[in-house]
Amino acid sequence: MVIVQEVWHLRSGYDGRAQDVMQELDDLVGPAAHEHPGWCGHARFLQSTGPSGEVVMLYPWRSRVLHEELAAREEPLLAEFNRNYCAAPREIRYFAELAVDVEHEHHDAEQVSDPVRTRTLAGRVALVTGASRGIGRAIALALAADGADVAVNVRAAETAAADAVAQIRALGRRAESFQADVTEAAAAEPLVASVIERMGRLDILVNNVGDFHFKPLDAMEPTEWERILNSNLSSVFYLTRAALPAMRAGGFGRIVNLGLSPVEIVRGAPNIAAYAVAKTGVLVLTRSLAAEQAPYGITVNTVSPGLIDNGHLPPTQKVWMEKRVPMGRLGRSEEVAAAVAFLVSPPASYISGANLAVGGGWDWDNRPVDHDHDVRKLFGAGGGA
Ligand SMILES: NC(=O)c1ccc[n+]([C@@H]2O[C@H](COP(=O)([O-])OP(=O)(O)OC[C@H]3O[C@@H](n4cnc5c(N)ncnc54)[C@H](OP(=O)(O)O)[C@@H]3O)[C@@H](O)[C@H]2O)c1
Repeated sequence: MVIVQEVWHLRSGYDGRAQDVMQELDDLVGPAAHEHPGWCGHARFLQSTGPSGEVVMLYPWRSRVLHEELAAREEPLLAEFNRNYCAAPREIRYFAELAVDVEHEHHDAEQVSDPVRTRTLAGRVALVTGASRGIGRAIALALAADGADVAVNVRAAETAAADAVAQIRALGRRAESFQADVTEAAAAEPLVASVIERMGRLDILVNNVGDFHFKPLDAMEPTEWERILNSNLSSVFYLTRAALPAMRAGGFGRIVNLGLSPVEIVRGAPNIAAYAVAKTGVLVLTRSLAAEQAPYGITVNTVSPGLIDNGHLPPTQKVWMEKRVPMGRLGRSEEVAAAVAFLVSPPASYISGANLAVGGGWDWDNRPVDHDHDVRKLFGAGGGA
């Protein structure tokens, strides 16, 4: 924590009217004032008239870097205010870097009942794996729209990651891309360390990576089996393990893992056995972690997409999928992202170990099997989608 002191030098004529001036400032910013990180009520501040002609404010803030970024973002908003009321630019001083965090989840309970602040993630940093495209990118954007700064993990597609970063920055949030293959155990700790170093903290982890594979077991190579389990299940373990120390130190954490909509009851899943085994494992991992981490202010949940158009489905697969969904259409990445955003938001502060299906009513109980005998035509010899 750092104590930030801001001194506003008022023009003559406004002496003794600090309270009125602050109200003017609030009015100028409008309804956004209360969603604005660091604004009145969000980071608690002390205000005094100080010496005549000055407004002095003290903010307990999470880090100097976060405050400096906020101050830079505020400048355009404050230009008019400065012109009208101030005789000189505001002065900013930093005091006492302390190794404690003042923003804890006990505020979440208050925020649930506050309609203005519901779902705000301001001041939080989220790491989303595989966020260069598809559902991961939609999740990164949804979290940014709700106020979070976002670390965009990518394995290879750096141009796509740069686009995602630019989109997030356009929303006024901080964003950086982080290249790492999350299937490698050794990559997890350096990835988390670098997020904390470059972004200041880590509050939210979304384990989104999870390669799909469509192939009968008799045709599957052991290397393919391992790849699918690593991509969908082991990566969740590696990353979560690496992220937990920082979350526990801060007394706050939100982890969301990506599952698969019909995987709730253990059952056979022809042609996608490796994927279904891994996603069932994700559910078990989620529930185990939810119980283990509950005492530390960390929630762990699964969001399970049904059949989602991730932007690169071959048309034949798309038609096949649409026929199987009771709603008669594929889901959108944004619809999955909305569920993730809810589970990391203040109103979800008491939800842990849940599995939220986003599947348009899809259930394998009434699933036709005609395609099971002819999978190669539909999904190709390679098996990936
Ligand atoms: N789409 C669906 O219908 C559906 C249905 C149920 C569940 N899901 C689940 O939802 C999640 C997202 O699916 P999606 O369809 O959006 O996937 P996608 O479009 O294939 O996107 C995958 C993303 O993950 C990245 N990635 C892949 N392997 C990685 C690795 N080892 N390390 C780091 N990044 C990696 C990719 O980056 P690069 O481009 O750099 O490789 C890309 O950004 C997955 O867990 C999936 O199993 C999807």
